[in-house]
Amino acid sequence: MKGLKIVATGRYAPRRVVTNEDLSQIVDTSDEWISARTGMKRRHFCEEQEGNLSNAVSAATKALEKANIDKAEIGAVVVATFSGDYFVPSTACLVQQKLELPDETICFDLNAACSGFMFGLQVVRGLLLQSEKPYALLIGSEVISRRLDMTDRGTCILFGDGAGAALLKLDENASYTSIMGSHGDETLIYVPNQEGVPHTVHMDGHATYKFAVQTVPKLIREVAEKAKLGLEEIDGFILHQANARIIDAVARNLGLPKSKFFVNIEEYGNTSAASVAIALDDALEQGWCKPGQKILLAGFGAGKTWGAAILDV
Ligand code: UT7
Repeated sequence: MKGLKIVATGRYAPRRVVTNEDLSQIVDTSDEWISARTGMKRRHFCEEQEGNLSNAVSAATKALEKANIDKAEIGAVVVATFSGDYFVPSTACLVQQKLELPDETICFDLNAACSGFMFGLQVVRGLLLQSEKPYALLIGSEVISRRLDMTDRGTCILFGDGAGAALLKLDENASYTSIMGSHGDETLIYVPNQEGVPHTVHMDGHATYKFAVQTVPKLIREVAEKAKLGLEEIDGFILHQANARIIDAVARNLGLPKSKFFVNIEEYGNTSAASVAIALDDALEQGWCKPGQKILLAGFGAGKTWGAAILDV
C-alpha cells in the first residue's frame, strides 16, 4: 500500500504578538500562571484585515515555494478548520482561487477541531488514491481570537491564530500507518451556533486535560503496534500543542525522554487544527527532525476526536 510523502511544508502566524503580560492587562492572570500551567509565552492574533484565508494562503505559498512543482498537478485542497472567514464558501475554495489552481481541483474544509490536521491526512490519502493528479495540499488554519470570550481567563489565554500547510503525495517507498477515532461529545469543548449566543469557545479544562492524558498515550502505543514499531524506533513525536504539561505527561506515561517530543507552544499557544502542521514545519525548519526519519504526529480535541499517524518526513 502506498504511503504518504510530505513533499514540503510551510507555516504562517499573524504579525500581532500577544504576550502573557498583554493578557494580564485584560483578565486576572499572570505570566507566571500561564507559563507554569501551559508552557505558553506568546500567541499571534489576526489584525482586522487578516483572516483564516490569508493565513492559509501564506502558509500554502511557503510550502509551494519550497516544493517547486507545477500547481496544475495539485488535485485537492483540504483545509482543516473550525474558524473559517465564512460558513460558506469554504476556505479551501478561496485558497484555490487565490493560488489560481485549476477548476478540476477538489476543494473543501474539514472540521475535526484539534484533530483536524490528522483527519486531513487520512482524507487526503483517500483522495490521492483515487486522483489522477499526484499532489494534494492540506492546510490547518484557524482564527480562534475571533471566537474567544476575552473576559474568560480559563480560555482566552490558551489559543492563538495561524496556519500550517503540507504538500503531500503518495509514494511507494513512504510509510503511513494511522489510527483515527471519535467518541461523540459536546461537553468538553464547544463553540455554540445559536441565535443570541456569542460564538465563543467554552471548555471544561480539567475534563479535557484528563481526556488528553488518558487517550494520547494509548493512541500512540496502538499506532506504533499497528506499524510494528517499538516506541524507541520512532525518531520524534509531534503532538497537538494544547498544553506543555499534557505533552510531558504523555512522555512520562510512555517512558520516553521529553527531548523526543517537539514543543513550540511557547510561541504559538494552541492553534487547534493548525497546531500539528505549524509544529511539523517548525520542527523541519529547525532541523529537529530530518528527511528520512520516522515521525509520529498526533492530535486530539473537541468532539471528542483523536488521530495519530506515523510517517517518513
Ligand atoms: O485543544 C483542545 C484541548 N484543550 C486542552 O487540552 C486544555 C486542557 N486543559 C488544560 O490545559 C488546563 O486544564 C488549563 C490550562 C485550562 C487549566 O489549568 P489547571 O491547572 O487545570 O487549572 P485549574 O482549572 O485547576 O485552575 C486552578 C486555579 C483556579 O483557581 P482556584 O479555584 O484554585 O482559586 C482557577 O480559577 O487557577 C485559576 N485560573 C487562573 N488563574 C490565573 C484559571 N485560569 C487562570 C488564569 N490565570 N488564566
